Amino acid sequence: MISAKTILAAFVLARLALAMPSGTDTAKRATCTVNSVSSASSLSSCSSVVISSFTVPSGSTLTMNFAEGASVTMSGDVTFASTTSSGPLVTIAGTGITFNGNGHKFDGNGPDYWDGEGTNGGKTKPHPFMKLKASGTLENFTILNTPAQAISMGNDDPVVVSGVTVDNSAGDTNSLGHNTDGFDCSESDVTIQNSVIKNQDDCIAINAGSNIVFQNNQCSGGHGISIGSIASGKTVSGVTISGNTVTNSQNGLRIKVNADATSASVSGVTYSGNTLSGITDYGILVTESYPDSFGTPGTGASISGINFTGSKTTVAVDSSATRVAVNCGSGACSGTWNWGELTVTGGKTSVIKAASATISGGSY
Ligand SMILES: *[C@@H]1O[C@H](CO)[C@@H](O)[C@H](O)[C@H]1NC(C)=O
Ligand SMILES: *[C@@H]1O[C@H](CO)[C@@H](O)[C@H](O)[C@H]1NC(C)=O
Repeated sequence: MISAKTILAAFVLARLALAMPSGTDTAKRATCTVNSVSSASSLSSCSSVVISSFTVPSGSTLTMNFAEGASVTMSGDVTFASTTSSGPLVTIAGTGITFNGNGHKFDGNGPDYWDGEGTNGGKTKPHPFMKLKASGTLENFTILNTPAQAISMGNDDPVVVSGVTVDNSAGDTNSLGHNTDGFDCSESDVTIQNSVIKNQDDCIAINAGSNIVFQNNQCSGGHGISIGSIASGKTVSGVTISGNTVTNSQNGLRIKVNADATSASVSGVTYSGNTLSGITDYGILVTESYPDSFGTPGTGASISGINFTGSKTTVAVDSSATRVAVNCGSGACSGTWNWGELTVTGGKTSVIKAASATISGGSY
């Protein structure tokens, strides 16, 4: 006799067998937890990953290579003990991932390294703190107190970084934090938005790449929003900088090309709807004499298509600052630049050496 119970049990088992994925599917559907450096080493079969709170010990770095399309969330903070390891201390890699930090932190222990010298001397500082080799969407996490540069982009496919806080404001005390760039970008197809960057160097430095959008971010305490410095052979094109707020910073918006750069170019940069105040050096600086802000410009790199259009960009500079400085080498800047939606007030008279470029409109 087969009992009703047995039939029911067989039925349930059959249903379970149908519901359970088989073979590689089982592996792909696994949820994995990262709660140590070693647990991060084999994530290739995890479609879903939870990062919980742990400390990365001295001498170690954290690399997370996520599966294509993985969904990653954080449930706690990851703290990095002081280390003599080289940067990056944390690498996030993976194609088309969705990374949601739920507001949790990566804490770099910056105060243990900060000595006012950044990467120019003093204590060795691992940098960058974080390398983002991921594409997809990364959002809602905080990078706290990085030894030097915070986030370096390294994506191969399009990426959107949203709602990220880089908070190095503790480094303002006694000017100990230095070279703490928020984002360094030498990649294409990058959008960084709705983020907050408090630091002591460039909010973002765009060194190469195309199709780059930096929008609706808040920068404070640093050196402003920068394209460059541009070195020989580097090209930046198709950049949109819009809706950002920059306060209490050395510079507002800069394009800086190395004086000795050759075979390099910056083209197609559009600024729209940015609001800047408390700028101490230059409101707007376009220069080909870097590292000198206004030295003898080089002629081996070209700059074209630099526009202030769309919504008004307003810049209020301090009395010590120059409103606008353009410093192009002979023939090296060209075309018509539409500055119709730019207003700069305060500070000292603008100095414009635009070479072959014609700048139209604007109030500065
Ligand atoms: C970030 O995550 C926290 C925790 O889930 C949430 O309360 C907050 O609203 C999120 N912020 C954004 C901008 O999504
Ligand atoms: C910048 O403005 C000039 C002059 O109006 C225009 O010819 C050019 O296409 C604009 N460039 C971009 C990238 O919008």
